[in-house]
Amino acid sequence: MELVFATNNQHKLKEVQFLLGDKIKLLSLKDIGCSEEIPEDYETLKENASQKARYIYDRYKMNCFADDTGLEIDALNGEPGVYSARYAGEPCTFDDNNKKVLEKLQGIKNRKACFKTVISLILDGKEYFFEGQVDGEILTEKTGKDGFGYDPVFKPVECDLSFAEMSMEEKNKISHRARATKKLVGFLLK
Ligand code: IMP
Repeated sequence: MELVFATNNQHKLKEVQFLLGDKIKLLSLKDIGCSEEIPEDYETLKENASQKARYIYDRYKMNCFADDTGLEIDALNGEPGVYSARYAGEPCTFDDNNKKVLEKLQGIKNRKACFKTVISLILDGKEYFFEGQVDGEILTEKTGKDGFGYDPVFKPVECDLSFAEMSMEEKNKISHRARATKKLVGFLLK
C-alpha cells in the first residue's frame, strides 16, 4: 500500500517509515511532484493537520496523511504551541527557535513542557485523526546533535537524555509523533 505523507522533512519521513514497516510505502511531497507551500492557517494542531491532508487529497486524489506538532511550555502559557515552526519569526531556523525558548525560560524553575502531535489521515475521502503526546522538560542548554527542531532542548520524562542525544529508534519508542503514528499503523493494518 502507498500513502502520501504530506511533508518533505527527512527526519519525519524516516521516523514514520520506520514505524510503518514495509507493508506501507510512504511517498513524500517531492515524490508526488508537489512543490507548493501548503498553507497552515489555523490556530489548532488538528485544524492545521486537516488542512494539509485535505490540500493534498483534493489536488492529487491520493490517500494521504499530514501531521502537525506543537511544543507547549507550561511557564510560557503553552507557547510556542501551534506557532512552534515560526516562534522566532519568519524566516527562522531551528536554532533561532531554541535560543528564544532558552532565553524566555532563563531563571525560571518550572521547565515542564510537552510535545503534541495530531495526524489527519484521509482515506478514500474519509478523515480520521490520531494524537500523541510526550511530557518532559526544557533543558537549560542545547544538548545533543541528532534529530531536529526543539530536540536539543527537550528531555522526555521517560529518559535522562535529550531527544537530540537519542538514536531515532530510542526517540521512536516514546515520542509524540511515534505515539500518534502507532495509532495510525494500528488503524491501517487492522
Ligand atoms: P510541524 O508543523 O509538525 O512541522 O511542527 C512544527 C515545528 O515543531 C517544527 O518546525 C519543529 O520545530 C517542531 N517539531 C515538530 N516535531 C518535532 C520533533 O519531533 N522534535 C523537535 N521538534 C519538533
